[in-house]
Amino acid sequence: MKKILVIGAAGQIGTDLTGELRSRHGGEQVVASDIKLAPEDVMQGGPFVKLDAMDNKKLEKIIDEYGITEIYHLAAILSGNAEKNPKWAWDLNMNSLFNVLDVSRAKGIQKIFWPSSMGAFGPTTPEWDTPQVTVMEPTTVYGISKLAGERWVEYYHTKYGMDIRSLRYPGLISYKTEAGGGTTDYAVEIFYQAIKCGKYECFLSEDIALPMMFMDDAVEATIQLMDAPSKDIRVRSSYNLGGISFTPRELADEIRKYIPELEVTYKPDFRQEIAESWPRRISDDAAQRDWGWQQQYDLEKMSRVMIEKIREKMGV
Ligand code: NAD
Ligand code: SER
Repeated sequence: MKKILVIGAAGQIGTDLTGELRSRHGGEQVVASDIKLAPEDVMQGGPFVKLDAMDNKKLEKIIDEYGITEIYHLAAILSGNAEKNPKWAWDLNMNSLFNVLDVSRAKGIQKIFWPSSMGAFGPTTPEWDTPQVTVMEPTTVYGISKLAGERWVEYYHTKYGMDIRSLRYPGLISYKTEAGGGTTDYAVEIFYQAIKCGKYECFLSEDIALPMMFMDDAVEATIQLMDAPSKDIRVRSSYNLGGISFTPRELADEIRKYIPELEVTYKPDFRQEIAESWPRRISDDAAQRDWGWQQQYDLEKMSRVMIEKIREKMGV
């Protein structure tokens, strides 16, 4: 029977993914872990252990103690925070990945999920309908760590026969947990501020389009990829995920259908340059072809659910 370990379970993706994995496999089958305590539903829904992803001895101990067979390694420093302390971000993003790969290899872990990002692309990448295989010259430390990670996971698969699967997530939008210091965080913050006070100051310019995805689609894609037969996984670096492309102005206009008084001002900061180095729209043809990926949420449906759920959460 599958026994799953989620590393970084207290984060934006971890909280949603852990919940969904537990609802499919049972609470006890999914061990959540993080360096910090997780939101209540993650803490209550099954086992939780404190784990620093850099600590190989503790990781080995948890694998043995719980009989772990699969690992989802989500711990990382995201693009905005990484630029504030590049060496620290490189150290965590790379060495935690090596730790998980090496311990998993020694312990015979059957499957690993590790996410890459659209941040692995750079300013020389084709901006529109970015193909699966293309020029990749990232200019952020986050992107460099993701591109290096992609090469390493493919290497461990080819050289050691390990089953590691990966997605290049676009910016993720969700209501359960705050976004974790990335360039796409504006697309989560704007919903909270719109509902709280009807005002938002955006740290990107109004006309910069970026690929984004609603969390339910991202979680579904992750589980679908992990459940796909090995023979169908033809990309062993990381699969593109397309998501929905929109600008801050287009998102604000969509939110105004529910909150017409919303005022948005634009004050681009250092994250504007990061956003400009990423694609405007990504093609996920390879994921569609290989394991049948189809996203469910467009801008309209995603915004409706975000507003409904955040209002419910805030009791307004
Ligand atoms: P997040 O920052 O919200 O969560 C990361 C979690 O990792 C946090 O709970 C943090 O406490 C934990 N963590 C940090 N250092 C740790 C350590 N040393 N040991 C154990 N846990 C540690 O990030 P997220 O948005 O949930 O992202 C998860 C993964 O998905 C990352 O690899 C990120 O690069 C990738 N990704 C995220 C997005 C997005 O929009 N959220 C997009 C593309 C890729
Ligand atoms: N949402 C992430 C970030 O902005 C993209 O990987 O860092």
